Amino acid sequence: MNPFDGLARQKEIYLNKLSGAQSSIPFSYEELKRLGESKMDEEAKGYISGNAGDGSTSFENQDAFKKWKLVPRVLKNVVDRNMNIELFGQAFKAPVFLSPVGGLELAHPEADVAVAKAAAKLSLPYIFSSQGSFTMEDCAKVMGDETRWFQLYWGVEKQLAKSFVKRAEAVNCKAIVLTIDTSMLGWRTRDLDNAYVPFLRGIGLAQYLNDPVFWEITNAMPDEKVKAKITPESLEFMIKLAKKFPGSSIENIKTKRAIKAVKAFSKIFANPALNWDDLDWLRNLTDLPIILKGIVHPEDAQKAKDIGMDGIIVSNHGGRQLAGSISSLDALSWISKEVKDFPLMIDSGIRTGEDIFKALALGASAVCVGRPYVYGLAIDGAFGVEEVMRNLMGSFDMAMALTCSKDINEVKNTVLYKV
Ligand code: FNR
Repeated sequence: MNPFDGLARQKEIYLNKLSGAQSSIPFSYEELKRLGESKMDEEAKGYISGNAGDGSTSFENQDAFKKWKLVPRVLKNVVDRNMNIELFGQAFKAPVFLSPVGGLELAHPEADVAVAKAAAKLSLPYIFSSQGSFTMEDCAKVMGDETRWFQLYWGVEKQLAKSFVKRAEAVNCKAIVLTIDTSMLGWRTRDLDNAYVPFLRGIGLAQYLNDPVFWEITNAMPDEKVKAKITPESLEFMIKLAKKFPGSSIENIKTKRAIKAVKAFSKIFANPALNWDDLDWLRNLTDLPIILKGIVHPEDAQKAKDIGMDGIIVSNHGGRQLAGSISSLDALSWISKEVKDFPLMIDSGIRTGEDIFKALALGASAVCVGRPYVYGLAIDGAFGVEEVMRNLMGSFDMAMALTCSKDINEVKNTVLYKV
């Protein structure tokens, strides 16, 4: 049985209404985004919906899908459809992952744990973020045996990266996704307007604050005397920050632990020196598949293959890193022509089931969904995420049926019409 059967999903929705039940999760992306944003304050909205510069890359990501047209086919028996895939020797019920997204408590207090619950319920793999609001241990706990991967930000501290990877192995993550497009945070205009970045407020730091290596690094940093004026705002900030930390808030304020940890984080996060030669170290550190996230140039993709990486996620980080960039979909179609026999996944701009279909037809082995599930989370926690993902999967299945594609191989061999 196909768990994401689009027809069954439609019937459920129409029949539920007859008994008075209707989901609060909108079906169109625009409405989903509008309602999701309405649940967040300005700073949260700016961080989640914001992009680099003028937002052009994010816009381009979605627009690129419109240049490729599906061509419906008819009169083939498509009653039995399945969307199973195998990737890196792992079996998946569908070629769809939930992207790593940091700072999710901005959208909902249950944050990553809610996403983990929804993903596990649907048997869709979830990639835990290095910038989680909850630890990978907390998220793994609610996922049972369902597949999770871990996304690594490799800052300047190698030992911390090692600790993250070893913790990921211990909680049964089945791959390491190394994000390489964020050697520093992009020029994010909405965050700059708000003078707001969640990490400096202690948000999205759970992986760090619960890591012994992080505390060794923090404690070894020399105390800096800061002459800050005490104002009602700065006091409120200190109290909020202290509450985010393990242990007593009073102690956290007295010992300046919280402030020290945030400072330590901001010193070690960006690593513009990271380069191809460093990846050997990671390759030797773990037997898990390593997937590089954030590649949009065929030469970089080829290099990833040549040095023994297991695959890549073609991604421009949802347009959050650099304005005026190539869309992920255009990059995918370029890379898939140049680099053969190498697993290419994609994210950035996937909003509908038809988008998932197009990405697979243009050479992706699987796709990762980002902001759509975040808005679902903001609207209704784990249930919101589940609904968003079920709707996406239902419409993807419907696209398979209406193009007479019975399995993912047929989807991949579908020729799209380019305008
Ligand atoms: C992200 N993304 C991201 N990527 C990553 O590797 N680690 C992370 O911690 C985060 N954090 C994050 C926060 C927020 C609020 C967003 C929106 C995105 C990028 C994410 O994995 C993915 O690449 C994009 O979300 C894809 O773009 P769309 O489809 O969501 O626009």
